[in-house]
Amino acid sequence: MNSLELFNQIYTLETERVYSKSLLSFFESTIRARLPNAPRILDLGCGSKSIFEDIDLSGSNVTAIDFSPVAISKALILPNGISYKEVDLSTPDVLEKSAYDLIFDSHCLHCITDEANRKSAFTNIYQSLRPDGLFTTEMMVLPPNKTVVMPNKHVVEARAIEDEILSYGFKINYFLIVRDLVFGSENGDCDLVRVICRK
Ligand SMILES: C[S@@+](CC[C@H](N)C(=O)[O-])C[C@H]1O[C@@H](n2cnc3c(N)ncnc32)[C@H](O)[C@@H]1O
Repeated sequence: MNSLELFNQIYTLETERVYSKSLLSFFESTIRARLPNAPRILDLGCGSKSIFEDIDLSGSNVTAIDFSPVAISKALILPNGISYKEVDLSTPDVLEKSAYDLIFDSHCLHCITDEANRKSAFTNIYQSLRPDGLFTTEMMVLPPNKTVVMPNKHVVEARAIEDEILSYGFKINYFLIVRDLVFGSENGDCDLVRVICRK
């Protein structure tokens, strides 16, 4: 089963629209204060509910994307002011250029494992940010001296994520490795890295 089929199955079985609460704490503790007024925001891998449905940001304009048609059709039942779209982030040139003040990775990038697809995804993110715009991500990373095998997940050392982000031209402002933060059944054996960077 490929990644899209897997997520379609997960969202078909989902009984409640939820998102990872760790993303909300990351936004409130560390990202919110860095945003301009009335920001234009893109949420990546929003699933059936974007965290921005629960965030009060006056004047903001939020677009939330996911490649699962099942997730997006559930989100569209009650979109709560969010513009939901079915988009595969790894499709070249799929995003509007120089459009966003914040591109927020809702645990999407660690689900993109193919090298060419990751390149397209990062290139899309970079091109789609306004000059000085923020890209933020919370990703699973390998704990020191540990091997973790997770099918359908890109889990590498934090240093490799740092190099990957820098290679697209981003400037890293914040890079924090978080231990013992579990956001569901997914990441129990992994650490997380929280990154904030600017174009
Ligand atoms: C681990 S889930 C996170 C869902 C939700 N944001 C949360 O925090 O619980 C990753 C999400 O990314 C989506 N996704 C994976 N690959 C994608 C791609 N290439 N383009 C767009 N969305 C993708 C999946 O459908 C899924 O909804």
